[in-house]
Amino acid sequence: MMRILIINGPNLNLTGLRQPHIYGTTSFDTFLNALHQKFEAHELVYFQSNSEGELIDFLQQEIPVSDAVVINPGAYAHTSIALADALQSFAIPIVEVHLSNIYAREPFRAHSYVSAVAAGAISGLGLFGYEVAVRYLIDNFRKSTD
Ligand code: DQA
Repeated sequence: MMRILIINGPNLNLTGLRQPHIYGTTSFDTFLNALHQKFEAHELVYFQSNSEGELIDFLQQEIPVSDAVVINPGAYAHTSIALADALQSFAIPIVEVHLSNIYAREPFRAHSYVSAVAAGAISGLGLFGYEVAVRYLIDNFRKSTD
């Protein structure tokens, strides 16, 4: 059993409502329910905040007691060295997810501070990206004893 943090940064609470042509029409809550069912053998701990400090506080508290992180930092991917620092404080595998293809949009979205501290990044696969990330983490980092 793995304990995996699923973290969403600012504005991702509006997924399903905001710019649906870019971010889709499914709410994150609906998607999360399905994700819990798909990976019911594992503990998926979800947290969303619009505040950089709250995200960092949560990571500081939860990373030491968790096995892996899936994070969509929203726009903080492009701006926050502090968030990237918090993610690399402890050795834990991290996968970065973006719903949209950040390389096909405005140039300022093409750089992410989080990518530098992540095992890998998934961009442009919509909500399916989170499922791919969880699958990758379980397949590669589950301890053979559980
Ligand atoms: C996003 C991409 C970011 O550039 C943007 O600021 C977001 C959402 C995505 O999931 O595609 O808020 O992280």
